[in-house]
Amino acid sequence: MSFPVTRMRRLRQSSALREMLAETALSANDFIMPLFVRPGKGVRNPISSMPGNYQMSIDVLVEACEELLAAGVRMVILFGIPEHKDAVGSEGYADDGIIQCAVRALRENVPEMLVCTDVCLCEYTDHGHCGVIRDGRVDNDPTLDLLTEMSLSHARAGAHVVAPSDMMDGRIGAVRNALDADGFDQTVIMAYSAKYASSFYGPFRDAAESPPQFGDRRAYQMDFRNAREAGREIALDIAEGADIVMVKPALPYLDIIRTVRDSVSLPVAAYSVSGEFAMVKAAAANGWLDERRVALEMLYSIKRAGADLILTYWACDAARWLKEDGACL
Ligand code: PBG
Repeated sequence: MSFPVTRMRRLRQSSALREMLAETALSANDFIMPLFVRPGKGVRNPISSMPGNYQMSIDVLVEACEELLAAGVRMVILFGIPEHKDAVGSEGYADDGIIQCAVRALRENVPEMLVCTDVCLCEYTDHGHCGVIRDGRVDNDPTLDLLTEMSLSHARAGAHVVAPSDMMDGRIGAVRNALDADGFDQTVIMAYSAKYASSFYGPFRDAAESPPQFGDRRAYQMDFRNAREAGREIALDIAEGADIVMVKPALPYLDIIRTVRDSVSLPVAAYSVSGEFAMVKAAAANGWLDERRVALEMLYSIKRAGADLILTYWACDAARWLKEDGACL
């Protein structure tokens, strides 16, 4: 049936109809908020390339999590900035490391908050790479031992979810085995499965003080020209025991999110990364974009592409916006 019998505008004529017929729903239950924690007390260092985000000491982190929970956000993912860095990232898997202390504090003080930890060495190594270096390159297999140590230390501290983001081969299986062997069979693994070597991570590396000191990450993170390869990474991580698979970044990779959603039945997470956030913030500061409208449009797009969960620096703001408006845009 075509025009004039069919009129597509008939169903768009009022806000009430549009709300009833919206195909995609978004809520605070979809969001995971990334937070940066560093040693000290009362520390709240603004991250200049990510306005509204801070490097926080644990006491400030606890307050931030209380606020997030009040806004309806149920999960945070923690990144640590250690006191000292070394070649093998020792503070990353120390039981008194910054993340381990932060997780314990959150479990004690904000018990309703689900705590996820990023498992990667780049924030803890003096060379800024995600593994141990041998002959100028990241050596895969010895790195697995350190990643399992790190995951175990996070689980011992009380992390509900561990999220390996290093892109070493075999790390999901190694982490699952180690967790199970130590009695942490209920610790969830959210795998950064299709993580691309992206220039959109720039602001994060300022925030986490983790840029590589030589070279780049293209020998372990994925080439952004590749889509089929994402399917292989996802399949391997599922076979190794991932509970949730992730695509990262999100906005320039909506095709990957859709393909993964259509091919697996596991929950799919998408990480809307620091660069996606920073470019909208910068444009909004210039009066070129409406931050709130653009951010919600991006988040709905990521959801529409098939993500069940979205890691986003707008988690708190978006949760509040959705609450203020009801679901209405
Ligand atoms: C650690 C890690 C990175 C991000 C999340 N975990 C940086 C990187 O791989 O260089 C980036 C997140 C963001 O840009 O928001 N490996």
